[in-house]
Amino acid sequence: MIQLIRGFKDILPGEVEVWQYIESVARGLFEDFGFKEIRIPIMEKTELFARSIGEDTDIVEKEMYTFPDRKGDLITLRPEATASICRSYIQHKMYADDPVKKFYTIGPMFRRERPQKGRYRQFYQINAEIFGVASPLADVELIFLLKNLFSRLSTGDVEAHINSLGCPECRPVFKAALTEYISSRTDALCSDCVRRKDRNPLRVLDCKVPACREAMEDAPSIIDHLCPACAQHFDVVRASLDSLGVPFVVNKRLVRGLDYYTRTTFEIQTRSLGAQSAVAGGGRYDGLVKMLGGPDMPATGFAIGFDRLAEVAGLDNQDFIRKPDLYIAALDEESGAMAFEWLCALGTQGIQATMDFEGRSLKSQMKRAGRNEARFTLIVGEDERKKGLAILRNMKTREQVTVPLDNLVERMKPLIQY
Ligand code: HAM
Repeated sequence: MIQLIRGFKDILPGEVEVWQYIESVARGLFEDFGFKEIRIPIMEKTELFARSIGEDTDIVEKEMYTFPDRKGDLITLRPEATASICRSYIQHKMYADDPVKKFYTIGPMFRRERPQKGRYRQFYQINAEIFGVASPLADVELIFLLKNLFSRLSTGDVEAHINSLGCPECRPVFKAALTEYISSRTDALCSDCVRRKDRNPLRVLDCKVPACREAMEDAPSIIDHLCPACAQHFDVVRASLDSLGVPFVVNKRLVRGLDYYTRTTFEIQTRSLGAQSAVAGGGRYDGLVKMLGGPDMPATGFAIGFDRLAEVAGLDNQDFIRKPDLYIAALDEESGAMAFEWLCALGTQGIQATMDFEGRSLKSQMKRAGRNEARFTLIVGEDERKKGLAILRNMKTREQVTVPLDNLVERMKPLIQY
């Protein structure tokens, strides 16, 4: 038997309903905050991700699904959406009329990570991006939106972590201090960290190896190295979150796994997912649009891990699974033909009916109606047809009424509609 690829998964009926609900709540909230949906391709030129996310990141170094197409051009299954949305914003000159644009997109991403709980090789993200707003209030709006979405989905035990990564002015000073600190600890670090320390020392702060985390415990904090403009930006973020009543913790280790960030970074973390604690992550990336060939344009955004959110949201699948309104137990061929017509007519009127096409006994059909958790069963056989009536049974109260076959669909509607 052919099985699915390791790290990939099916989202089956019974589970997918919660996903649909989350998606509808997220869409509603995005629309209320003025975000427009954008749909971007699943594949892009490899170069787009390599340049945006950074050559020295785990994603680009070892996790991308990259392959040559038939002409030999390197293409990559998208590991994230931000780079593509920037590419699209630039390509379609969406900055030309009004540079302020708010986008959201929902879809699958691909990273060849080691699969474990909460970590998949095809996973889904809910992304939001704001272009053209330099004000820290755009960062705050995103965190506020996340908080609202999570509480609408009854997601308990989540905490917002924030940090600032500075800008091209102040980051080099911090990097120098960090590199000096790392140099004094190289013996304790993993080989990846030693290799990256000169090219990308921030990655060392992000390393998950326990020995590295311990060695970096007293590393310098970027917040102490921010230039006045970045420090003020971060002050406004904190003050506005406070005044909106959004709780947060400042986490100086929060450097994120992608290189494009400037200033504010944030994650929504939870303890319910074991090692995979981030349900959402994001931040400001003021230099990316320019780096990809567009105008100098500030931007900020986030992505929620949909799979992780579906796991931690306080939602019960059972509440979202639609059961048939009606099971039609037709007891002979002629009744079956009538039942099928009713089923089709009811379906077009928003009433979900189901039936047995094999002409099984009444007993076995009633059992099936029970298994399907139909709210009502309509019984019709030769006897009923002769009388011109069918029997409608409420499966919960066991009450039965007769319904004339003539114009049956119209007569049934008020009886079974909520
Ligand atoms: P990220 O932190 O790489 O950021 O991913 C965002 C979220 O996607 C994570 O917090 C996590 O919940 C989920 N996620 C990531 N990898 C996996 C995986 N292998 N399995 C399951 N879930 C996963 C970004 O992707 C940025 N593009 C976010 C952003 C948007 N920054 C600015 N705008």
